[in-house]
Amino acid sequence: NMKLLLFFGFVAVALAEVTRFEGDKVFRLKPTLDAHVTLIKHLAKSIELDFWRPDSDDLVTIDIDVDIHVPARYLDMVYITLEQGGVAYEILIDDFQSAVDGQADSGASPRAHSYTKYNTWSEIEAWTNTITSSNPSLVSKQIIGNTYEGRSMVLLKIGKSSASPKPAIFMDCGFHAREWISPAFCQWFVNEAVTTYGSDSAMTSLLNDMDVYVLPVFNVDGYVYSHTNDRMWRKTRSRNSGSSCVGTDPNRNFNAGWCTIGASSNPCSDTFCGSTPESEIESKNVANFIRNNKSTIKAYLTIHSYSQLLLFPYAYTFSLAADHSELLKVAEGASAALTSLYGTRYTSGPSAATIYPAAGGSDDWAYDLGVKYSYTFELRDTGYYGFLLPESQIKPTCEETMLAVKYIAAHVQKNL
Ligand code: ARG
Ligand code: ZN
Repeated sequence: NMKLLLFFGFVAVALAEVTRFEGDKVFRLKPTLDAHVTLIKHLAKSIELDFWRPDSDDLVTIDIDVDIHVPARYLDMVYITLEQGGVAYEILIDDFQSAVDGQADSGASPRAHSYTKYNTWSEIEAWTNTITSSNPSLVSKQIIGNTYEGRSMVLLKIGKSSASPKPAIFMDCGFHAREWISPAFCQWFVNEAVTTYGSDSAMTSLLNDMDVYVLPVFNVDGYVYSHTNDRMWRKTRSRNSGSSCVGTDPNRNFNAGWCTIGASSNPCSDTFCGSTPESEIESKNVANFIRNNKSTIKAYLTIHSYSQLLLFPYAYTFSLAADHSELLKVAEGASAALTSLYGTRYTSGPSAATIYPAAGGSDDWAYDLGVKYSYTFELRDTGYYGFLLPESQIKPTCEETMLAVKYIAAHVQKNL
């Protein structure tokens, strides 16, 4: 049976290509001197380190926690370098492969869509159809374009239908492939919206007055790749001319101080800004949609992980946004609402001063386009699991994040 043989052949090839992480560890470095920073950057140039926080070696500065995933083969060298250089460190994840395997602890069936597991893209895509057809009066679906590899970028519009265009909130998830809690939140949000409409007064009034656009996965190609090949993939999957390194950081690819700071022009970097602003078709599709609906879109929310932060413009400059005090006040209210549920602590502030300056972000771009309420969430946790947040934390993370999103939405609605 030729078909069966071919099938097993493909399975074997696919399995062989999956990156394994046996013996790898995640370190938290605590550079307190310029010499420590120099040493970390030097180390990053000489071996393949996977930066978890900040997003690449270019963003390392003194007095921040630097979380790095170190492949097993470099451990000796990293230990020796850190000890000799006097850099303080701790081990965040001692057994990386176990943490990867341990994520799926929800008990949900691995073969069906679930709000408490990390669904694959095919499960999510099928879910966009069922949630739309089961809620025809509240949800509609559109394709805003295709990804580099030709997958659909599916956008859901949630709101009570109305004859005239309604003001809207745009929310996206899954910019960065490995931040799996992010698409999980967008799915959770849509489900909460349709199941609490009519019973929860805030949700009902929100969806009566406004539409919420939800893009459950922005970087679909990267998300698929993070499931099939490399759990730690971050960027898009586009080819780069003149380099064998793949992908662009979509959150460095927007036209907001593009590639001036906190971004790299090296295609091999995890913060590569791309060949031009909107060089990535995924960025272009989203930017076009927001530009075309600029008159109705009042808020832009983009969901990342990890670090427990609620950020707002600017990231490309330390200058404060014209709406700084209002944005800060709303962020603080939203964080307090989030904390009220399980005590999860969030820090809020403008990106540049709160995490690091980094240009080309979608949040800054949307803000400069005129979308005043522009926020970036960095969901759980603060590095204990990092990107490998177990599925058992999806529910509490989404529940608390709902409170923050609803707080922001209520403020936007009140100020229409
Ligand atoms: N960790 C996110 C990133 O680097 C933070 C985004 C904050 N906003 C920004 N425009 N950099 O992409
Ligand atoms: Zn991210």
